[in-house]
This record gives sequence, structure tokens and C-alpha cells, in this order.
Amino acid sequence: LALSAALVLSGCGGARSGDAAGDESFTIKFSHVTTANTPKGKAAEKFKEILEDSSDGRITVEIYPNSELYGDKDELQALQSNSVQMIAPSSSKFTTIAPQLQLLDLPFLFDTSEDIPTLASRDSVIGDVIYENEDLKSKNVQVLGLWDNGLKQLSANTELRTPEDTKGLSFRIQPADVLASQFEAWGGATSTMAFAEVYNGLQQGVIDGQENTYSNIETQKMHTVQKFLTESDHGYIGYVTAINSEFFDSLPEDLQQLVIDAMDEASAYNREVATEVNEEAKQAIIEEGSTEIVTLTEEERQAWKDAVVPSVWEEHKDVLGPEIIDGLLAERD
Ligand code: LMR
Repeated sequence: LALSAALVLSGCGGARSGDAAGDESFTIKFSHVTTANTPKGKAAEKFKEILEDSSDGRITVEIYPNSELYGDKDELQALQSNSVQMIAPSSSKFTTIAPQLQLLDLPFLFDTSEDIPTLASRDSVIGDVIYENEDLKSKNVQVLGLWDNGLKQLSANTELRTPEDTKGLSFRIQPADVLASQFEAWGGATSTMAFAEVYNGLQQGVIDGQENTYSNIETQKMHTVQKFLTESDHGYIGYVTAINSEFFDSLPEDLQQLVIDAMDEASAYNREVATEVNEEAKQAIIEEGSTEIVTLTEEERQAWKDAVVPSVWEEHKDVLGPEIIDGLLAERD
């Protein structure tokens, strides 16, 4: 009863247009924080297209991109209260409710984008933490998939070639302790800030730099207020796509299956386009000409890595799972 009340109040479905269960139609409000032309935005559009088509209109997906409905600070709450039915926050945004997801935030977890599908596949140890996460299950959050954005780069108004170059600078981070430790190990200070506020934060000098993927930097125009961008590929931004579990359970079984199938297809599409979207964003930044892209030699990149692996991994072992960390570190030897 509580759920149907919520559905009616938020106008998000449950409207019966006939007696048979098969006539019932539903609306999924899907809120996210990036623009429509990012790896996440494109995958969300694909998900909508597939699901509306396969359900023959029984499910409508309304997408609210670019923090226009809910932003970092309230989207998880909006999902749990069923004000929206789906969100796709980066792993770092789950820190307070499911801290183990910070596994995906570990610096240099993936060396290149090609490592992502294997290391974070559904049947991997990391996949298990994502898909079978008890913290999320107990909070009415059901995980449907993992979407990539890609690997993060560093930006500032001064050249960042060595970890020491971060000293005296303050970097915006997503709300994950692992990310704070990473910058601390390099020598920089950090400040947690919502994604939608980063451009202003940089422009007004509240923060000196930040870390993000090319597509996020370009679509939020961060590069227009950052003179240097170091191609460090030092960390990952990936999205845990989630649906309100009470809402999902309230769907007729055939529609549940269509949601799962549409997510699988949208996830495959996301993997297909993510690298390309980031490459295009990089080219757009280069063409704009206001930001210098700093390419690191192998030795220079190694210095960034040595400063955080394994120290930052070890530091958060208790939260991330001691056995998992030991296993991942052993695989690298
Ligand atoms: C960020 O906050 O920098 C990213 O998580 C935004 C996003 O959703 O890609």
C-alpha cells in the first residue's frame, strides 16, 4: 500500500487502464547528472529506446539528465523514496550507503580501458561486490548493471607532471575516502563537491583542480577554466545503474525481464561507445586550444602509481575487503 501511494503521489505509474494485469502501464523516471551526449547519457537514451519498444509502450522512461531534477546530493535519497525509479551514479557516490563500492575508485585499478570488462565482469570478485551488495539490497536499491564512463585525467592551472606538483593545490573530489587518500598521498588537498558545482568551483578558484574523464571535462566546460590537463588515466569512473527495488518488484514478471534485457543491451552499447565518446571529447578540447594536454612518459606515470599503489589500497583494506585487496594485489605481482 505504501508503495502504491508513493507511485500515485509521484505520478510515476501504476495507472491501470484495464482489468488484466497486462494492461497496466508504468513510468520510470531516470535521473542522472551528466549531459545527454556522454557515455552515461547515451546509454540511458538507449535503455529508454529499447524498453519502450520492447514493452510496447507499457513502460515509459523519462530521462532527466545534467542534474536537472536531482543532483549528487539528493539523487540517492530520491531513488530510495521512489521519487525517481532509476539513477546511475558513479561508484564513489555510494560511499556512505555502500562503502565497499569504492573498490572501483582505487587508483590504477585498471591500467587501460580494455581491462575494465574482465576485472569488473559480473562473475568477478569486484562484480560480486557490485551486483550482490547487501548494503544496497537492504536499502531498497537493486543493481541492474555497470556502465563505463572511462579513465580519469587530472586538470589544474599549473602543469601536473609529478605527484609533487599537486602540493599546495586543492582538488575537487567525489565523496569517496579512497579519493581523498589518493590526493593526500600525492601531496594535494581535497574538497568534496557535487558534479554540477565543479565548473563554478574552478572558475571562482574555490578549488584549483579536479580529476575526471575527458567527456565529463568537455561537456561541463571545465577545460575552459583549466590551463593544463595531464593524461594520467589514473582512475575509473563507472556507474552502478540502480532501480528502486520495491518498484521493480511491483512490475509484472514479464516487464521485469524486459527491464533486465534492456539494461543488458544498453550496457553492451555503453561499452561500445564509451571510449569513442571520450576520444571525441579529447579532440574537442585539443581543437579549442585553451588547454595544454600533458602526456606522461611511462616512468612519469609510474611515479604517480607508486605513490598510491599499494599504500592507498592497503589503507582502506578493512572497508574494501581484506581478502579482495590481497587478491587484487597478488594478481598484479
Ligand atoms: C563526478 O562527480 O565527477 C562524476 O561522477 C559525474 C558522473 O556522473 O560522471
